[in-house]
Amino acid sequence: MSLQSEIAKRRTFGIISHPDAGKTTLTEKLLLFGGAIQKAGAVKSNKADKAATSDFMEIEKQRGISVATSVMGFEYLNTKINILDTPGHKDFAEDTYRTLTAVDSVILVVDCVKGVEEQTKKLMQVCRMRHTPVIVFVNKMDREGKDPFDLLEEIEKELNISTRALSWPIGIGSTFKGVYQLHDKSLNLFSASKKHIADDSIAINGLDDPKLEELLGERLTSKLKEDVELIETVAEPFDRDLYLSGYLAPVFFGSAINNFGVQELLETFIKIAPSPQGRETDTRKVEPNEPKFSGFIFKIHANLDPNHRDRIAFCRICSGTFQRNTFYQHNRLNKKLKFASPTSFMADNKSLVEEAFPGDVVGLYDSGNFKIGDTLTEGESLQFIGIPSFSPEIFRELENSDPFKTKQLEKGIHQLSDEGVAQLFVQNPGNRKIIGTVGELQFEVIQFRLKNEYGASCHFRPVNISKAKWISATTPQELEKFTRRYAQKIAFDKESKPVFLASSAWDIEYAAKEYPAITFHETSEWEMLVDKK
Ligand code: G4P
Repeated sequence: MSLQSEIAKRRTFGIISHPDAGKTTLTEKLLLFGGAIQKAGAVKSNKADKAATSDFMEIEKQRGISVATSVMGFEYLNTKINILDTPGHKDFAEDTYRTLTAVDSVILVVDCVKGVEEQTKKLMQVCRMRHTPVIVFVNKMDREGKDPFDLLEEIEKELNISTRALSWPIGIGSTFKGVYQLHDKSLNLFSASKKHIADDSIAINGLDDPKLEELLGERLTSKLKEDVELIETVAEPFDRDLYLSGYLAPVFFGSAINNFGVQELLETFIKIAPSPQGRETDTRKVEPNEPKFSGFIFKIHANLDPNHRDRIAFCRICSGTFQRNTFYQHNRLNKKLKFASPTSFMADNKSLVEEAFPGDVVGLYDSGNFKIGDTLTEGESLQFIGIPSFSPEIFRELENSDPFKTKQLEKGIHQLSDEGVAQLFVQNPGNRKIIGTVGELQFEVIQFRLKNEYGASCHFRPVNISKAKWISATTPQELEKFTRRYAQKIAFDKESKPVFLASSAWDIEYAAKEYPAITFHETSEWEMLVDKK
């Protein structure tokens, strides 16, 4: 098969949601439809993730399991589908942000009872910034949820995206009867069935077909007619280009646990979702159909066993064909590396990859060469961009508890920061280390791993910092002036970029007023900001 056909048949995406909305259930049902697993339960739920707030070993165990489910690939209707798993626990949200840099589209699961929740908003901000195409699946329609029109309005307002329903629910909760497919005017009737995986579609001859009233009764039929009339007069027709550019989200309604609406979602997804897309680098845009291989590392998974220090680096293939046992150029280290056992993961199985194509993800065994964002090529010197760091939410100062292990602590904390466990900001002079995370749990992970893997002891001291802003200035002199004036609040990230560590929003406003030549940025990659795609 030609490279072009391999690319055209691939769809690489992530499923995102607020915990409990049904991400795990939907993933599992998609795998069941795709024939990748034979029975429910093969995809581990993130139960421990959700329950535990302090038992991080339990979570690490779960993360261990999640290596296996990091990328779930299967074929359906001659399409190779790659689902990139994202952690359920909010304290690992940064992992999710990074995974979103490796997908071409996402499916967002919204609970119809709860509507748009906090975690969803954050994840969608990242999607919006990258113009990632989004399909919304409104789940749990078997429960008494919000009115579907209200839900669409809430999604539009809260997530700053236009929506277009492609299916429409008939009743909700105890009166939920099924969905009407707006595009082909067919009807899918609901029966609560955790066993059957196919929902049968009933062909009807438009909304005036007398069959409709026989099936739904008079009340629901007239409500459906009213709703559909309203949608068709108010909503714009579905425009695939707007979806592909990330401005319009098609919406489906269903119930993942009951296998309802999942097949429709999957089949539409295959039709409309983008195949692997080109990606920006520091020198040019790389297109997937270029013959030479290129890819980048978006996730690193450490082996917690101190006797086996190897890690798995997940590489998203961006162009050309990746081949086992072939030398590739690691651009940051300017070093040639070859991989004897690149791996693909699927539920409980691992398999050796001989070759892989754009959109695929391969796991590369690594003894410490990789850092998040590293680029591999066949020799061209370029670096993929668009894998930024965002401001952490919780900050602590890392203090050494054992002066005899200073070296180990230095090495350990830098490696953990390369892996993306947390962000490290260093203040000079003094080599003061500020650790930034999105959740308390990450501090426990760091403390445990420094001890377990590097033999270093540390503790954390509270600091008065609530936000990190990357800074730039109109001239180097202005930057110099500012960093001198605010020396106490300036630190450097792992790329040695200057960061302003603010104690409050007011702090930033004040500094911005005082120094208009300084710009404060939300992410580390402010140079390539937003509209580059
Ligand atoms: P997550 O990965 O987004 O965190 O959510 P997950 O799939 O684990 O689902 C969260 C809960 O919602 C689970 O219930 C799951 O069974 C339930 N659920 C998923 N889809 C639907 C649906 O369409 N309708 C209804 N009513 N419930 C749904 P749980 O009680 O937490 O776990 P379990 O005991 O059912 O496994």
